[in-house]
Amino acid sequence: MPADPYAESGEFIDVLSQDAWRALGAPISDALRQAAPGQGPIVDIGAGTGLGTLLVADTVPDAEVIAVEPSPILRAVLLSRLAANDGLRRRVTVQAIDVDGMRLPPRLGGVLAINMIGHLTPAQRRRFWADLRPRLEPAAPLIVNLQPPTEPTVIPESPFTSVPIGRRTYQGSGGARPAGDDMVTWTMRYRILDEDGAVDSEFVAEYPWHVLSPQDLLDELTAAGYAATARELDVVVALPRT
Ligand SMILES: C[S@@+](CC[C@H](N)C(=O)[O-])C[C@H]1O[C@@H](n2cnc3c(N)ncnc32)[C@H](O)[C@@H]1O
Repeated sequence: MPADPYAESGEFIDVLSQDAWRALGAPISDALRQAAPGQGPIVDIGAGTGLGTLLVADTVPDAEVIAVEPSPILRAVLLSRLAANDGLRRRVTVQAIDVDGMRLPPRLGGVLAINMIGHLTPAQRRRFWADLRPRLEPAAPLIVNLQPPTEPTVIPESPFTSVPIGRRTYQGSGGARPAGDDMVTWTMRYRILDEDGAVDSEFVAEYPWHVLSPQDLLDELTAAGYAATARELDVVVALPRT
C-alpha cells in the first residue's frame, strides 16, 4: 500500500470531521434506507475513524458491515469505537487494506464511499465502479460524495472548523492549488490553540486529490452501468441499471 497520507494528521481527523458528518448524516441515512441488508453486508470503503460506519449500523440495524480502512492511525480510532460497543463488535468487520486489496463477498447490501473518492486515480475509480456493480445487483445502492473543488482551481486557505476540547481548541484550515489536468493538492493546516488563543502547535499536511464535477461523476457511473442521481450536498446514489 502507498504511504499513509494521514500518518501525521490522524490525531485531528475524527475531531475535525464531526461537523461535516452532522450535515452529511441526513442525506446519507436517507440513501441508506434503500440498502438491501438481506442481500449481503454493507461496506464502508475508506471508513476512516468510523463516523460513517456508525451511521450505517444505526440506520440499518440488521446489517452486517465491512469497514475497509488502510490508515493505521484512523483504523485505531475506528477499532476503538467498535471495541467499546458490543453490538458493533458483533456486526462490523474491519479490513486493514485499500480498495485495490479489499476482499468482498459476491453480493453486497450497499456501499458507502464518503469523503474518499478523490484519493483514487481515474483508472482506480473506474475499476472500483466495475468491481462493485455485479455485487450490488439487483438493487443495492452505491453512495458516494464529492468534495470541492470540482475542477483544478485555486482555493485560498480558509478555516474549516474549530473544536474546543478542554482548555485546547483544535482547528483545521486549508486551501488547494491545481496539480495537473484532474488534480489539486490540498494543503491543510492543523493547529492546537491554548486557552488564550495562542498557537500551541501547528503543522501542515499536503494531500493529492483527484477532482471531478458532479456531472462527470454521474456520466462515469452511467457508463459503468448504474442509474445515478445527485442529492443534497453532492451525495450521489447509484443503483445497478437493469
Ligand atoms: C477524508 S478521509 C474520510 C474518512 C471517512 N469516510 C469519513 O468520511 O469520515 C479519507 C479516507 O480514505 C481512505 N483512503 C485513502 N486512500 C484509499 C484507498 N486507496 N482505498 C481505500 N481507502 C482509502 C483514508 O485512509 C481515509 O480514511
